[in-house]
Amino acid sequence: MCRVISVCNQKGGVGKSAISCNLGVGLARKGKKVCIIDTDPQGNATFSLGIDNRDKLENTVSSFIEREINEDPIPAKEYVIHNEEVDIIPCNIELASYDYAMMTAYNREHMLENLVKELKKDYDYILIECSPSLNLMTINVLTCSDSVIIPVEPATLSIEGLQLLIESIRSMKKKLNRKLKIEGIVINNVEFRQKEDQRNIEELQEIYGDKIRIFDSMIPKSVRMRECTAHGVSIFRYDPNGKAAQGFEDLSEEVLAYAG
Ligand SMILES: Nc1ncnc2c1ncn2[C@@H]1O[C@H](COP(=O)(O)OP(=O)(O)OP(=O)(O)O)[C@@H](O)[C@H]1O
Ligand SMILES: [Mg+2]
Repeated sequence: MCRVISVCNQKGGVGKSAISCNLGVGLARKGKKVCIIDTDPQGNATFSLGIDNRDKLENTVSSFIEREINEDPIPAKEYVIHNEEVDIIPCNIELASYDYAMMTAYNREHMLENLVKELKKDYDYILIECSPSLNLMTINVLTCSDSVIIPVEPATLSIEGLQLLIESIRSMKKKLNRKLKIEGIVINNVEFRQKEDQRNIEELQEIYGDKIRIFDSMIPKSVRMRECTAHGVSIFRYDPNGKAAQGFEDLSEEVLAYAG
């Protein structure tokens, strides 16, 4: 059975792209068949997985939405690119130009669902990377997800923004997707020796720990993470023996243990 997990936080720069890509590759290295769908017009996950010509690609999440609007679908597999150990459906800036057309479409919250439904039979995991916004595309993502992984940084502002996200997910669950659950919070960019980070992690655990799973595996702050993104390869390939790769290895195991 395929599990569809979105990686979502309206706060920018908390590690959504890094986690979609590296958790995806981590799960693939454990023998799972994984597809990552990038739904952010910035296309950062697409770039991080080595696709550096995203603005020139014919088949992307942007063209998928255009085809949905025009009722002119093509098979889902035509959107798929294979790279490193995962498949990816890329995204590019064109998606931003469909905001208005999406708003006025009759099936506006269910467009992406058509793509995901068709892909499910081919994968164990579909990971969907969200843009830093609770816009209609993100609502589409949450409508077709089984669960959500929320990346946060151990910083006060990051923790404060969480409440809005959790309330939005609860409201989505009531209105559009009864099966939606929060898979868990992943703490990213951690400097374990910083007292400030320790305090913020404790605060996060105090506020949310008994309501929402906080993954034991945390991703350390590492300059290697920034570098591997820039090189378009996963942390497993760029720095396989480093602490960030170990963090993602642990996180992949934890996700497998919980989600199966
Ligand atoms: N653990 C980490 N250590 C160091 N740098 C990191 C780490 N995780 C992510 N980064 C870097 O921080 C930047 C932001 O991360 P990322 O793009 O994954 O965040 P995001 O939430 O997807 O951002 P956006 O909201 O803009 O889409 C990137 O340059 C990335 O390489
Ligand atoms: Mg991103």
